[in-house]
Amino acid sequence: MKKVGLKETARLYWKLGKSYKWLVLGTLVGLLIAVAAQMVAIIALRDFFDVLATETGSDVMPMALQKLAIYAGWEILAWAAWRINTFAVIRYQSLTVRDIYDYCFEYVHHHSYAFFADNFVGSLVKKVNRFVRSFERIADLILYNFLSLFYRMFIILGVLLWVNQWLGLVVFVWIIVFMSLNVFLSLKKLKYDRAKAHADSKISGQLADTFTNNQNVKLFVGFKKERRAFQNLTRSWYKKTRKAWDFDHYVEMGQSAFMIVLEVGILYVALELWQLSFIEVADFVLIQLYMFEIFHQVWPFGRNVRDFYESFADAEEMAEILLESHEVKDKKGAKSFKILSGRVDFRNVSFTYSEADDHVINNFDLTIKSGQKVALIGPSGGGKTTITKLLLRFYDIQKGKILVDDQNVADVTQESLRGAMALVPQDPILFHRSLMENIRYGRTNASDEEVIAAAKMAFCHDFIQQFPKGYKTFVGERGVKLSGGQRQRVAIARAILSNAKILILDEATSSLDSESEMLIQKALDNLVKNKTTIVIAHRLSTVMSADRILVLQNGKIVEDGRHSDLINRKGSMYGKMWDLQVGGYMQD
Ligand SMILES: Nc1ncnc2c1ncn2[C@@H]1O[C@H](COP(=O)(O)OP(=O)(O)OP(=O)(O)O)[C@@H](O)[C@H]1O
Ligand SMILES: [Mg+2]
Repeated sequence: MKKVGLKETARLYWKLGKSYKWLVLGTLVGLLIAVAAQMVAIIALRDFFDVLATETGSDVMPMALQKLAIYAGWEILAWAAWRINTFAVIRYQSLTVRDIYDYCFEYVHHHSYAFFADNFVGSLVKKVNRFVRSFERIADLILYNFLSLFYRMFIILGVLLWVNQWLGLVVFVWIIVFMSLNVFLSLKKLKYDRAKAHADSKISGQLADTFTNNQNVKLFVGFKKERRAFQNLTRSWYKKTRKAWDFDHYVEMGQSAFMIVLEVGILYVALELWQLSFIEVADFVLIQLYMFEIFHQVWPFGRNVRDFYESFADAEEMAEILLESHEVKDKKGAKSFKILSGRVDFRNVSFTYSEADDHVINNFDLTIKSGQKVALIGPSGGGKTTITKLLLRFYDIQKGKILVDDQNVADVTQESLRGAMALVPQDPILFHRSLMENIRYGRTNASDEEVIAAAKMAFCHDFIQQFPKGYKTFVGERGVKLSGGQRQRVAIARAILSNAKILILDEATSSLDSESEMLIQKALDNLVKNKTTIVIAHRLSTVMSADRILVLQNGKIVEDGRHSDLINRKGSMYGKMWDLQVGGYMQD
């Protein structure tokens, strides 16, 4: 994965946040007017005090009232401009966050099978949420803190310089030093923030992994070991977090001292200037109010800068995922796959999961004629499941080609390719949705009757009917509320419903008792007529009726033939396996 820093993340946020230009404009215009009006209102207030301090006699009241009215006018303008600003911000932020959620959903889903094998679901979810939250924080910081701060400082400095250049100059130098120092320190702290974010993710990952494996933890009495491992993570989190927070504290310590110096210093300068009659008493009000304003604004500046960088650090992990190009991609202008007769060709295919490993499949050749029922058997880890994943293009191969009906699987769109095939995986996973919805996932437009017909064929209708809620029963996360065999049958029903021309059954009936398995096999035999079928099984009774049996070992086909051929072939592996299984559990 390529390393992603602040610049890349910022660019990505910009790409995702730059729609809705009118709303951004509304936000900015509102802000500029509001802040300017507020700053000018302070001058009006100064004038008001000036009247009180310098005028005498009957003039005071009307003049003071007039100044008060001017002050009120500016404040009302500021109030109105803030409303425009907030109106635009609410719309901008909620629209953009909506879009970012949608983008993350889509982009992550289009990552490959390998990506999901490599990433914890728990931390993926957390990363998406953090990415969205960081965007909100960053947008807030830019609009409400930084932009508004610089703009306010600009106005305040202008007014102070106009009142007296020395006053302005002192404050100007102070602000420059203060802010540069803050930015410098915040950058220094970035590495602590990153370490903290990383420790955070590790905790989530471990939580998710151990919660998922709760059964294993219980079964193998692993709690103490897991707790130790988890506590190591929380201890490391504690150390990293404390470092980061301590750093914050030290910076604030220096910062408050710095402010006291300015406040006392500037009042002293003002006093001297007043003595020399360069400024008036009312100017003290102006200075004091502006000083409040400055402190009020710059006090959180350091924290905001750190918050800014921290938000970016938080977002980086997700940005990495969003900027990593999809591992398996449709070619530009890829055509839709057209299923014809369902012929499958592997031509000199080599494949490895990672370059560091040996090839799982090496110079592999296989032709499956249309409508043929082929059984893949062989030792565990031999590459059977891998071959089916390649056919479905879950991975791209390194060498050779895979053709289905003379179309290279790499040249057609993934969606159309997979739409033409149905897979019952080795360990089927179901949505936490009703059984009806789970089965209908095979073909979205199927009617209830069709779903039930498929369920009957897969022998799930009976057990589903026994549930109080029948087809409306929810199956629990990943389908844990069903037995292994029930889950398999639901997955078979789903595949049956899809009516795909190519059917792949990867140990699809391994969790069933022999009788149910036989019944399902019979049902499938009817179903798979005219379909190309690949059946993977360890139980040889399942495959003996296949048109062709392929024995796969270390990614190579070592035997190929019918049951009757192979069993009689001298020294054949199939023959040995058959003997070991005592005639495949069930003697005909
Ligand atoms: N996602 C993966 N990343 C890396 N290696 C993998 C991955 N999946 C499988 N392998 C490796 O590829 C090899 C073939 O695995 P495969 O799942 O194809 O075997 P199989 O013949 O289906 O075995 P079984 O009968 O146990 O299901 C194994 O050595 C396995 O460790
Ligand atoms: Mg397998």
